[in-house]
Amino acid sequence: MKIVVIGGSGLIGAKLVARLGEAGHEMVAASPSTGVDTLTGAGLADALTGASVVIDVSNTANFDAAAVLNFFETSTRNLLAAEAAAGVGHHVALSIVGTDRLSGSGYFRAKIAQEKLIESSEIPYSLVHATQFFEFVRGIADNATDGDVVRIAPVQFQPIAGEDVARAVADVAAGAPLNGRTDIAGPQRVRMDEFFRSALSAWNDPRQVVTDEHARYFGAELTELNLVPIGEATLGTVTYAEWLAAQ
Ligand SMILES: NC(=O)c1ccc[n+]([C@@H]2O[C@H](COP(=O)([O-])OP(=O)(O)OC[C@H]3O[C@@H](n4cnc5c(N)ncnc54)[C@H](OP(=O)(O)O)[C@@H]3O)[C@@H](O)[C@H]2O)c1
Repeated sequence: MKIVVIGGSGLIGAKLVARLGEAGHEMVAASPSTGVDTLTGAGLADALTGASVVIDVSNTANFDAAAVLNFFETSTRNLLAAEAAAGVGHHVALSIVGTDRLSGSGYFRAKIAQEKLIESSEIPYSLVHATQFFEFVRGIADNATDGDVVRIAPVQFQPIAGEDVARAVADVAAGAPLNGRTDIAGPQRVRMDEFFRSALSAWNDPRQVVTDEHARYFGAELTELNLVPIGEATLGTVTYAEWLAAQ
């Protein structure tokens, strides 16, 4: 079947295009670099013609609260309208575990808005909630840096390899719409401050990790289980140590 990946040039998108292409699907990697822009609608109708499934793994580099809200609301509205016009039968989107528990963060509020638009649209859908990607954890440390100190809350943390995320999203996209959500997480649950203490040591990073129960995560205060799945979740197989050794 024809599957369009919005954000097909991105970290997860490129892995999805490769994986589902190898499984025999007709893949379209759609993003501004291939002439498809979900903010303006440019190229969308052409890309979606004949598509059965659309996977949205797009993202914006601008994490400013107003900009990110505008990105996810506008792009999702345009995308869902184009899918309705093209007769697409399954909209798959990648979101984040705990999104609805982290409304203190502008980025998470934007993901909540994206999910609400999907849930209230007519298009059958699946929402995949993933924990933090291994590829993103340096960005978390940088965002939490204050001088030469990295302030991290002592909460549960269960990051996952991008490759494991792509496998799970590909499986969902090839199946029937869930009209609901599914959670995916890494194979190991650890304390977030301890994870970063050993990660920075493995990176030979001189910054010091300070345990701070009020440390914010992209603007949101955390409680013990905000970042990890509550209840059933599909677990990835690659550990952070294995992933890091392979870089
Ligand atoms: N980071 C995490 O730990 C994490 C955890 C769970 C879920 N997620 C979610 O996972 C998703 C994918 O993240 P990622 O890290 O793979 O993203 P990424 O590597 O930053 O890639 C973003 C993609 O979006 C495309 N894009 C940007 N603006 C666009 C537009 N106007 N129209 C169409 N495409 C556009 C980019 O295209 P160009 O290359 O052409 O600019 C690129 O292909 C995001 O929705 C994020 O919220 C992330």
